[in-house]
Amino acid sequence: MIKIRDLHKQFGEKKVLNGVTLDIERGLTTTIFGVSGGGKSTIIKHIVGLLKADKGEILVDGINVITASEKEMMQIRHKVGFLFQSGALFDSMNVLENVAFPLVEHTKLSKKEIFSRVEAKLELVGLKPKEVLHLFPHELSGGMRKRVGLARTIVSEPESILYDEPTSGLDPITSDLISQMIIKLKNELKVTSVLISHDMNESFKCSDKIAMLHNGKIVEYGTCEEIKNSKNPVVRQFIEGSSEGPIQLN
Ligand SMILES: Nc1ncnc2c1ncn2[C@@H]1O[C@H](COP(=O)(O)OP(=O)(O)OP(=O)(O)O)[C@@H](O)[C@H]1O
Ligand SMILES: [Mg+2]
Repeated sequence: MIKIRDLHKQFGEKKVLNGVTLDIERGLTTTIFGVSGGGKSTIIKHIVGLLKADKGEILVDGINVITASEKEMMQIRHKVGFLFQSGALFDSMNVLENVAFPLVEHTKLSKKEIFSRVEAKLELVGLKPKEVLHLFPHELSGGMRKRVGLARTIVSEPESILYDEPTSGLDPITSDLISQMIIKLKNELKVTSVLISHDMNESFKCSDKIAMLHNGKIVEYGTCEEIKNSKNPVVRQFIEGSSEGPIQLN
């Protein structure tokens, strides 16, 4: 579904991506692992065209994001939902308006239909619609904001979803609910997902494939079993904890 070929990105003097090559297979959940600041968010921002690559190719369903026209980019954004690491809600809109936004902008659904979809998605992420619909982002806790962002990402039922750390900052029970939701979306709607996570256990639970980003490249890729048994020292450090000190970036 998504093919990334030899992706390079530099910010000023800092080379962040140094030839990332990765295939995101249709209908599967692929997790990208790597140290903080290693470029994980940078990779997925390229997929939806929020950043412009220095070099390389990204194909989403055959369309090259790097050379795509505005119209093709619209098609890609419709197919690919993106959950920002920060949640990124509109401060001036309440929860109902935030979650409804993609449907109001891009569909001709009736108000009633939009309302019922918003309610269903809020329930799916573990929020009580009656209690939160009228609240504004500043009235929500960090975890609630994250879940409202997630509800907005899934409300338009995209074919593919990029989740940037969907459970960071959430308690274990809510994290588990979100993991279950990711699994359910895959099983029931055949959603293709890219997950960025720091939590190995969570990733093993909900991913089919795992890719390890290190020094700007994907250094290991495989099923959860293959990753668990990998002898690659970078992978071992992630699984066993960094007892030998932090991984050097460069
Ligand atoms: N728009 C930008 N302008 C300048 N530097 C940037 C920009 N976006 C990211 N960077 C830099 O690129 C590097 C990678 O950032 P990125 O957010 O992709 O890391 P990450 O792997 O997602 O980290 P984390 O796990 O902490 O979220 C960092 O050093 C960051 O400072
Ligand atoms: Mg990030």
